[in-house]
Amino acid sequence: MNYRGPFRVRASEKPDPVILHPEDAIIKVTRSCICGSDLHLYHGLVPDTRVGMTFGHEFMGTVVDIGSDVHKLKVGDTVLVPFNIACGKCAFCKQELYGNCHESNSQATAVGGIFGYSHTAGGYDGGQAEYVRVPYADVGPTVIPEGMDPDDALLLTDVVPTGYQAAEMGGIKPGDTVVVFGAGPVGIMAAKCAWLFGAARVIVIDHLEYRLEFVRNYANCEAYNFESLEDPVLFLKKTTDWFGADVCIDAVGGDAAGNAMQTLTGRKLLLQAGSATALHWAINSVKKGGIVSIVGVYGPTDNLIPIGNVVNKGITIRANQASVKRLLPRLIDHIMAGRLDPKAIITHRFPLEEIAEAYHMFSAKLDNCIKPVLVMSAK
Ligand SMILES: NC(=O)c1ccc[n+]([C@@H]2O[C@H](COP(=O)([O-])OP(=O)(O)OC[C@H]3O[C@@H](n4cnc5c(N)ncnc54)[C@H](O)[C@@H]3O)[C@@H](O)[C@H]2O)c1
Ligand SMILES: [Zn+2]
Ligand SMILES: [Zn+2]
Repeated sequence: MNYRGPFRVRASEKPDPVILHPEDAIIKVTRSCICGSDLHLYHGLVPDTRVGMTFGHEFMGTVVDIGSDVHKLKVGDTVLVPFNIACGKCAFCKQELYGNCHESNSQATAVGGIFGYSHTAGGYDGGQAEYVRVPYADVGPTVIPEGMDPDDALLLTDVVPTGYQAAEMGGIKPGDTVVVFGAGPVGIMAAKCAWLFGAARVIVIDHLEYRLEFVRNYANCEAYNFESLEDPVLFLKKTTDWFGADVCIDAVGGDAAGNAMQTLTGRKLLLQAGSATALHWAINSVKKGGIVSIVGVYGPTDNLIPIGNVVNKGITIRANQASVKRLLPRLIDHIMAGRLDPKAIITHRFPLEEIAEAYHMFSAKLDNCIKPVLVMSAK
């Protein structure tokens, strides 16, 4: 795929990637998802998203070439590739903070490299393509376990670990009430995983009825439409005996709806780095001393968030990019044991040639779309 500017992507020919470094591998992509994070790029909200870039950070495929210093992979292996590009050797990778690698993104010291995610995330071309260059190939790519459904493997590149880490960062204790803002793939998975940590009550907030309906069934939780609530914060306080939730998870990020002023300043005028509506709701509806866990993506500059309330309520806020590689062993275990069924969130499949239609459908939330997958032709 080829980015042509906001709301414009198309399929076009680009030169095949080649090995540029001894630790590189070239992967022939078999499946690749479109993610809610890609929508921030598609909507033109991420700085330094250059025309000609290929998006795509959720992909799997077959190893077709390796550099001379790749030892754990061989040509012919079928692998899933975490969205984080991590060197495996720096001080942060050594702490398993693979989303914060210090080496893979020369543009920033905060976030590591990410496939297909603008030059602010290293400028790497992504996997919504027939072939992709994967740096540090001994670190990220993971051979798909025998017997695992390829759709499940595909969702282990981002959505499952991100939802799981959102729940993990929430420090959920047995008996806790957990509120998840956002019923996209990430929020759906966070709600599902909250139970694995012992939550007693899981509440999801969104405004798309079809997603609320899906998450109610898939994650066996309560789900409410914020448009039919006069004030979501008041509602959440009331339903928790005026304590507030133990844990609030922001699985929305800067594209949040629900507050006209935030939408205007954050999404239309771009005066702040996204709309902070879900974050406001999370901070204001968590109990005193509670934990706010953020996986929704915001721009790096200042946001108009209720920081005074963070202080006065003594809230712990935890946030990060998911460290996919750290979580893979336990998530593979959950999937193989049947406790997690990620593939159930996939609603649409498109050939790569129909990328423009796929982005439009996912962005405009048409046809009850939850998670679209691009399936490459087997040539
Ligand atoms: N930290 C990470 O590692 C990581 C990884 C993947 C995705 N993300 C981010 O997580 C977020 C969710 O991803 P996704 O793929 O599920 O996206 P998505 O766009 O499919 O879902 C977002 C959902 O939030 C809902 N929403 C909008 N405003 C809301 C509000 N005020 N309150 C509650 N819900 C609201 C939307 O209707 C939508 O259903 C995005 O910001 C994405 O960039 C982060
Ligand atoms: Zn993603
Ligand atoms: Zn590193």
